[in-house]
Amino acid sequence: MHSYTVFSLSNSLSLTDSISHLLRKRVGKLYATKFSDGEVYTRFDESIRGETIVLIAQINLPYTNLFELFVTIDAARRASAKEIICVLPYLPHSRQERKDDTRSSISARLIADFIEHAGADRIITIDMHSTSIEGFYNIPIVHIFMNNDFVRHIHTHLNPENICLCSPDFGGLKRIKQYKTILNCDMAVIHKERLRPNQVSSMEIIGEVKDKDIVIIDDMIDTGGTLCKAADLLLQQGARSVHAYCTHGVLSSNAVQRIESSGIQKLVVTDTIPHEKLGKNMELISCAPVLASAIDRLMRNKSIQQFNQTGLP
Ligand code: R5P
Repeated sequence: MHSYTVFSLSNSLSLTDSISHLLRKRVGKLYATKFSDGEVYTRFDESIRGETIVLIAQINLPYTNLFELFVTIDAARRASAKEIICVLPYLPHSRQERKDDTRSSISARLIADFIEHAGADRIITIDMHSTSIEGFYNIPIVHIFMNNDFVRHIHTHLNPENICLCSPDFGGLKRIKQYKTILNCDMAVIHKERLRPNQVSSMEIIGEVKDKDIVIIDDMIDTGGTLCKAADLLLQQGARSVHAYCTHGVLSSNAVQRIESSGIQKLVVTDTIPHEKLGKNMELISCAPVLASAIDRLMRNKSIQQFNQTGLP
């Protein structure tokens, strides 16, 4: 078992508290503040020389969170930490992992370069938008999934015999196939076209959804446009109910109200991004247990793949 200390960025105190409680570890002293113009400043208030540190960092927007990560990794490197493991439950810019138009950026790659150049040695993340992002990093990525928690929730709330899994786009097909192997149920996919970011122009369902309880699985929900439009279409085509499981609840703009007034019976999200308040048809499953197990297994040199498949501690 490696010895290590857990630290938290200022945006991740609650998640870090849950993780450290599960790991029975204390949280190390990391001071974070801002200059009056907003410039971020962090400082380790205990020695980390020669140590492995686990930095819990929810780096959702605003960009201050991401910048706090960069300066903290830099501070840890300059304070001679032996190994810097960054727990980044949600990776911003993941939707920009390829050039989908001429003269645009591949900013997921840019984020990877920044994190790596700052000095991170390893990353633990959950339900990446696309596994190709892993190739942007030269350092090891521990990719863990919410599958087991979501499947457990689906099993306790829905009749498995009437479920039809649905991916809201072709990019998510691989994801729902993983669920299908456990749930052994029907599946459908939606052909989605976009005009511009966050704006879906057209949707077409491929698969039989009539009288089915639809379970939409997606890596993230941002404005809710994709999900609400998909739910409308599924209900129009005779689906009995629509439930959705989206790991990263970005929930920007008026997403919460939009989902509340949609035909979606239940939306389950996690706390990879902190939430102050969720809508009345939403539920939260914490990612703290999977993260704590992944950290623990990593430190004990135990297989992560086995944990991903079975969810066993
Ligand atoms: C797209 O590829 C993603 O998996 C999500 O479906 C999408 O980003 C959700 O965005 P929004 O909620 O704004 O439609």
